[in-house]
Amino acid sequence: MSAAKFQQQPSSAAVCTLRRSLLTVAIVTLVSFTYLSLKSLHSPSLLSSPTTTSIARSVQPSLPEDVDYGEGDSAEKSVVVEREGNESDEADVYHLPKVFRLNYEEMLKRFKVYVYSDGDPKTYYQTPRKLTGKYASEGYFFQNLRDSKFVTDDPDRADLFFIPISCHKMRGKGISYENMTVIVRDYVEGLMSKYPYWNRTLGADHFFVTCHDVGVRATEGLPNLIKNSIRVVCSPSYDVGFIPHKDVALPQVLQPFALPAGGNDIENRTTLGFWAGHRNSKIRVILARVWENETELDISNNRINRATGHLVYQKRFYRTKFCICPGGSQVNSARIADSIHYGCIPVILSNYYDLPFNDILNWHKFAVVLKEKDVYQLKQILKNITQEEFARLHNNLVKVQKHFHWNSPAVSHDAFHMIMYELWLRHHVVKY
Ligand SMILES: *[C@@H]1O[C@H](CO)[C@@H](O)[C@H](O)[C@H]1NC(C)=O
Ligand SMILES: *[C@@H]1O[C@H](CO)[C@@H](O)[C@H](O)[C@H]1NC(C)=O
Ligand SMILES: *[C@@H]1O[C@H](CO)[C@@H](O)[C@H](O)[C@H]1NC(C)=O
Ligand SMILES: *[C@@H]1O[C@H](CO)[C@@H](O)[C@H](O)[C@H]1NC(C)=O
Ligand SMILES: *[C@@H]1O[C@H](CO)[C@@H](O)[C@H](O)[C@H]1NC(C)=O
Ligand SMILES: *[C@@H]1O[C@H](CO)[C@@H](O)[C@H](O)[C@H]1NC(C)=O
Repeated sequence: MSAAKFQQQPSSAAVCTLRRSLLTVAIVTLVSFTYLSLKSLHSPSLLSSPTTTSIARSVQPSLPEDVDYGEGDSAEKSVVVEREGNESDEADVYHLPKVFRLNYEEMLKRFKVYVYSDGDPKTYYQTPRKLTGKYASEGYFFQNLRDSKFVTDDPDRADLFFIPISCHKMRGKGISYENMTVIVRDYVEGLMSKYPYWNRTLGADHFFVTCHDVGVRATEGLPNLIKNSIRVVCSPSYDVGFIPHKDVALPQVLQPFALPAGGNDIENRTTLGFWAGHRNSKIRVILARVWENETELDISNNRINRATGHLVYQKRFYRTKFCICPGGSQVNSARIADSIHYGCIPVILSNYYDLPFNDILNWHKFAVVLKEKDVYQLKQILKNITQEEFARLHNNLVKVQKHFHWNSPAVSHDAFHMIMYELWLRHHVVKY
C-alpha cells in the first residue's frame, strides 16, 4: 500500500503496482480468513491439500477481468487453480458449500458435549416431554442429543456444556413463568457451586435449549445466562433480547407431518399465494384486510376447519407457489417449516427475524424474504417472480427440506445436526 501512497504521479506502472498490491492484500486477507475458519480443523495436512485451494476459491470474490496475475506468490496461485468437480448444486443454497461440507465432517469427528446429569429426569430434567406438537423441536433435540455420539462423560473433553432443563416439560407440569425463572436460576446456581466449569467462562461454553415461547424468558433470572450462554430458541426475534451471533434459532417444526414432502410438482402449483390463520398480530390483520377479496391470492383470516374436509389445509400447500408466513403472537411459526416440507416457497413477512440456519443457508435462494411494509405490494411482488425464478426457488427448496426435519433416531444433515453445527461454529469463539 505504501508504494502507492508515495507515488506522486500515477503512471501506468504505478496503477499496475497499486492494482497488484490491492489484489495481493485482498487475497492474503481471504486466505487468512479461510485459514482461520479452518484452524479448528486442527489438521495441518488438510491445509496443504488441494481442498484448501478450492475453499479459497469458494470465498473468492469475482476478480476484475483485466487483472494481470503475473508471477505471483503462492497465495496468488492458490486462487487461479482449475475448477474441479461440480459445486453448482450446493452453491445454490449454502453460503460456503465447501466450508460447510468440510467443517461438518470435522464436527462429526470431534464435537463433544457434556450433559449435566443433575436433576430428576421425572420432573423436567434430561428428558423431553414429547416429540409431537408445537414444541416438538425441543423434545427431539433432547432425545437426539442423548442418543448421539456427541455426548461425552468426560467434562475435560467437552467443547460445550448442556444445561438440560425442558421448559416445555415445566409448562406441562403447570409451572408459572415466574417460577420457571426461579427454577432455572436455582438449577444453574447449583451447577456453578458443584462443578468448576461454569465459573471458568461465566457460562460462555454452556448452552440451553427451548422451543417454548416462555423458555427464553425463563433464563432471565440469571444475567450471565442471557449475556454469555448460547440460547437455542424457537423465537429468535431481534427485539426480544435474542443475540444473533451468540444465540441459535431453532426451527419450529410441527411433527409428524400429516402428508409426505412435496417436490417436482410445480405443474400442480396453480395458486399464486396462500395463507389461512388467526388474526393474532398486526401484520396478519393487515394481510387479511388488504388481500381477503383478491381472487389471485388465497388469503383467509380463519384457519380452515376440519369440517371443510380431510387435510384441506395441508393440501393447499401442494397447490400453491408461495405460502405467506406472517408472524403471529410470536415471530416464528411452524408455517415456515410446513411450507418447506410441502414444497411451497415460504414468503417471510417480518421486520425482525433471525431465520434458522441463516449463517449456513442462503434463504434468498429458496424463500422470499420481505418486510412487513411490503404487504401492500404482496401480489405484485409475487407476480413479478418469473416462472423460471419460481422453478429455481422450488428446486432449491426441495434441497433444504432435510435440514428442517427432525428424526428419531437423528439422520445426517437433519435439523438436529444443523443445530449441532450451529453450536460447533459458536464453540470456536470461546475456549477455556
Ligand atoms: C454442473 O451441474 C449443472 C447442473 O447440474 C450443469 O448444468 C453443469 O453443466 C455442470 N457443470 C460441470 C462443470 O459439470
Ligand atoms: C410458585 O412457587 C411457589 C413456591 O414453591 C408456590 O407456592 C406457588 O404456588 C408457585 N406458583 C405457581 C403458579 O406455580
Ligand atoms: C463459582 O462462583 C460462584 C460465585 O462467585 C461461587 O459461589 C461458587 O462457589 C464458585 N464455584 C466453584 C466450584 O468454585
Ligand atoms: C398433481 O395433482 C394430481 C391430482 O391431485 C396428482 O394425482 C398428481 O400426483 C400430482 N402431481 C405431482 C407431480 O405431484
Ligand atoms: C371483502 O368483501 C367483503 C364482503 O363483500 C366486504 O365486507 C369487505 O369489506 C371486503 N374487503 C375489502 C378489503 O375490500
Ligand atoms: C414489478 O416489476 C415491474 C417491472 O419490472 C417494476 O416496475 C415494479 O416496480 C415491480 N413491482 C414490485 C412490487 O416489485
